[in-house]
Amino acid sequence: MEWIDTHCHLDEESFTQDCSETIQRAVDAGVKTMLAIGITLDSCRRVVELAQQYPSVYAVIGLHPNYVSAALPGDWEKIVELMRAPKVVGLGETGLDKYWDYAPIDLQTDYFHRHLELSRELDLPFVVHCREAEAETLAVLKQHAASGPLRGVMHAFCGTAETAAECLQMGMHLSFGGMLTFKKNEAQRQLSRTLPLDRLLVETDAPYLAPTPYRGKRNEPAHVRLTAACLAESRGISREEVATATTHNARQLFRLPDFM
Ligand code: NI
Repeated sequence: MEWIDTHCHLDEESFTQDCSETIQRAVDAGVKTMLAIGITLDSCRRVVELAQQYPSVYAVIGLHPNYVSAALPGDWEKIVELMRAPKVVGLGETGLDKYWDYAPIDLQTDYFHRHLELSRELDLPFVVHCREAEAETLAVLKQHAASGPLRGVMHAFCGTAETAAECLQMGMHLSFGGMLTFKKNEAQRQLSRTLPLDRLLVETDAPYLAPTPYRGKRNEPAHVRLTAACLAESRGISREEVATATTHNARQLFRLPDFM
């Protein structure tokens, strides 16, 4: 079985001591591809370097909504330039976050639009972070869906059935992370079994949101299998079926090469 972790923060400080061991553990566990995602200009530079260093790592770069206030003039233009670096396969993470009060919502929205416009221009998929801002996020997505289907993914999806339906209708993918395995999230597991398998992805968001039984510990890409196993169990299908489908979906969405 082969898995793809479509969202991990391998450049974060908690991995600096053992990044190559962490990546090797993932590869040994069948997680042959990892998408390292940037949140600031510096972080984007680091994930691009990681992608150059490790054959199994690809980069997704952008400005996270919580860091748009901290961005310096010119940072966005430098990220746009960096999009041309080898193995950059998508934009993000972008989106809206009303949980942390790190940046005014208008500024977050402005950057969200920039990512979506650039996604169309470069024909690269985008990765959406949405926290306590479902209505606002959908409103922005709908504006862009007016000019054609969207090529993107709702990362660590934990929204309602209605939001899922609207995103799917706009052409998007939904990605499940460790939260799916948390005991209290039965409603999410119920929802996950109703969604089309050909639009689902799995991710860790490592080092955050480790799945059960690692909850509260540092998360790592190898653990994506636990979330995928939970998805398989919820849907009453085999882990092989989930591995095949989600790996294929991720390859198609991010146009990743096929190693098999
Ligand atoms: Ni993230």
